[in-house]
Amino acid sequence: DLHSSSTGTVEMEPDGLVLIGKEDDIKRSRRVTAKVNGRHVVVFYHKGKFHAMDSRCYHEGGPLHLGEIEDINGQACITCPWHKYKITLETGEGLYEGINPLEPSPTPQWRSKGVKQRIHKVTIDNGNVYVSPPDLSVSFDSDYFADKYKNNGDLAM
Ligand code: FES
Repeated sequence: DLHSSSTGTVEMEPDGLVLIGKEDDIKRSRRVTAKVNGRHVVVFYHKGKFHAMDSRCYHEGGPLHLGEIEDINGQACITCPWHKYKITLETGEGLYEGINPLEPSPTPQWRSKGVKQRIHKVTIDNGNVYVSPPDLSVSFDSDYFADKYKNNGDLAM
C-alpha cells in the first residue's frame, strides 16, 4: 500500500549487500558485530580501513570481537582472547612464531599458516557500511564455528 512505502527518502541498498551500520558510528566505536546470512561477523575500523571477518576464531571458536589488535611485521592482527592466536585483519591468515633450527642462532620469526579465518568484503556507500554475503563455494576453517554458533544469539563470552 502506498502509505507504508511513503516514508520520505527512499534508500537503495546495493544489491545483496548486508547493511552493518553508519560509517561514522563504526569509525567511532572501532568495531561492531553483526549477523550476515546467519553467521556472526565482526567489522573493525583500524588505521583508516574497514575489515570484516567471522567473529568466531577458527581454532576453537573464541570471540575475536573481544580481542586486541596489534601490529606484527606491519600487518594488523587480531589476537584471540582464548588462546592468543593471531589472525591478520587483511587476509585472515593465521600467524605463528616459528624457528628454523638449521639457522646458526635461531630466532623466532612470524610465519603464515595460510588463510584460516573467513574475511568478508566491505563496501562503503553513501555513508553506510555493508558486508557482502559469503561465497560458500570456498571454505575456510572458521566456517565450522560460524555454523556451530549460527543459532546462538549471545555473542559475548
Ligand atoms: Fe581462538 Fe583458540 S579459540 S585461539
